[in-house]
Amino acid sequence: MHDNVILTGFMGTGKTTVGRLLAARLGCEFVDTDDLIVARAGRSVADIFREEGETRFRAREAEIAAELAGRRGLVVATGGRLMLDPDNAAALGATGPVFCLSAEPTDILTRVGAEADKRPLLSGDAPEARVRDLLHRRAAAYARFRPVETSGRAPEEVAEVIVALLAANLHESIPVRHPGGSYDVVVGENLLSDVPRAAGIDGPAAIITDDRVGPLHAAKIRMRKSGFNEPDTGSGPQKPGLSGVPILTMPAGERHKTLDTVRELYDGLLDAGLGRDATVIALGGGVVGDVAGFVAATYLRGVDFVLCPTTLLAMVDSSIGGKTGVDLPRGKNLVGAFKQPRLVSADIAALATLPADEFTAGMAEVAKHGLIADPVLWQRLMAEEWRIDPRRLANERLLRADLQTLVARAIRVKRDVVEEDPYESGRRAVLNLGHTFGHAVEQVSGYAIRHGEAVAMGLAAAAHLSAALGECSPSLPDQVEAGLARLGLPARIPPMLDPAALHAAMGSDKKKKAGRLRFVLIRDIGDIVIRDDVPAAAVMAVLERVRGDIAPAPSLRE
Ligand SMILES: NC(=O)c1ccc[n+]([C@@H]2O[C@H](COP(=O)([O-])OP(=O)(O)OC[C@H]3O[C@@H](n4cnc5c(N)ncnc54)[C@H](O)[C@@H]3O)[C@@H](O)[C@H]2O)c1
Ligand SMILES: [Zn+2]
Repeated sequence: MHDNVILTGFMGTGKTTVGRLLAARLGCEFVDTDDLIVARAGRSVADIFREEGETRFRAREAEIAAELAGRRGLVVATGGRLMLDPDNAAALGATGPVFCLSAEPTDILTRVGAEADKRPLLSGDAPEARVRDLLHRRAAAYARFRPVETSGRAPEEVAEVIVALLAANLHESIPVRHPGGSYDVVVGENLLSDVPRAAGIDGPAAIITDDRVGPLHAAKIRMRKSGFNEPDTGSGPQKPGLSGVPILTMPAGERHKTLDTVRELYDGLLDAGLGRDATVIALGGGVVGDVAGFVAATYLRGVDFVLCPTTLLAMVDSSIGGKTGVDLPRGKNLVGAFKQPRLVSADIAALATLPADEFTAGMAEVAKHGLIADPVLWQRLMAEEWRIDPRRLANERLLRADLQTLVARAIRVKRDVVEEDPYESGRRAVLNLGHTFGHAVEQVSGYAIRHGEAVAMGLAAAAHLSAALGECSPSLPDQVEAGLARLGLPARIPPMLDPAALHAAMGSDKKKKAGRLRFVLIRDIGDIVIRDDVPAAAVMAVLERVRGDIAPAPSLRE
């Protein structure tokens, strides 16, 4: 018996019509929760609302959700609010993928217009304003589910879209355009084994990974190695032309993001006899991606490049935008190149082995993306529990699905920015939100503070600076600090880091323009502004103000 397929979404998005068509296409039983409630109560939804009250109706919904969670092989169309209840969502979401149908407010009104009297939530004046208001208020809650737009599509087409998503294992493809063409960022589960096909690799290739990620995940790319440092544990059918692919393993960690590592990797590629028709496949976090990308950009003046990010940070941040490079003894990322990948394959299932504090650190960049441009993303961070042990991802389907839609949303924010500014000449500066302070914290702590934690402190500091300069409401810094704490991230700079030293370190950041410090400031969640005229005194005042140990204390790298 296959999983259930759950449809949710606002009224008038066609859940019942589409659900029926979908069930017919999939050859399974269709259940509409409202119909079930009406049948059992012996009266209409409107009558139940009127005579028993909304609370009783919600209780009836909860009973139905619990009951259906015990069954499989169904297509379930749910009442518009049923899946907004966390218990209902947990129960039904564990039984199969959840799609959220959406539609333009005007379409919703046209579609429900005929039966508006049966829709208790729409009775009253100004129904369109009411619809917009409700959609706005539910946006974050609905955003955790896989979106399917229905406006401009007949119900048959919507069912077709869902069938296609199911057939593609629910992978989500986010196209990224750049001056030389475009590539897809694919977000999904168990993607690694499909990388050679998805990337269209039909010639020689090499996997570059590190000594932590390689043993855990390299075999999944299903390539047979040939005498390099990793044993072949690949399973499944070997594709002709893809066997014998070497796995080149670098030591894990930022301190190996160096030209020495690059040189060793060049040697590995030469030893393997790889020519200009080769593809470099990076498998790992941002360090591996940056190093392997630089190798791909420069080996024989450039070979094809595929990225398989395995940290949250690498998925939402470093894998998008084409920046690659290595550190020099005098500073981070001082040597590099732009190198666009042919494909980015972000396998949510690979995050299950990530250490918890790496996961949390990655959440700082997700939060940054919400603050830059996506209030709904920020609301989702606040509404759901993201302080999780990544190991839960191995066996919790709803959690993986939630994380997938979150990661995809965060990727879109970065995609939109880098498409506008592929070579970092302007708009990309917005991505430095929290990073001017954050880099200083990293540097002055001697890199004892993790990047994501430093960024979190930087986001809080940026919020305080924004408030001090009158760019945002005085309550915004508290909101940002509380949000970071919720994610398990520190919002205060440890007192042992001297404000004057931090201030000096900011001046040496390479993002400085024409001698003046540029700050990305927050006007509101999802709305930022860049200012070049921030007085040094205001920055110093903020550095003094955000010192302190508030839980959770930053963990230090060993
Ligand atoms: N190119 C860009 O645009 C860009 C943007 C942001 C950051 N970066 C760079 O990214 C780097 C940081 O990336 P990061 O945070 O991913 O660090 P990382 O690559 O060092 O990974 C963190 C640790 O997690 C391990 N790891 C990775 N994936 C794992 C998995 N699935 N299971 C178990 N262990 C796993 C790694 O081996 C490493 O020890 C920095 O060097 C930074 O400069 C680049
Ligand atoms: Zn960052």
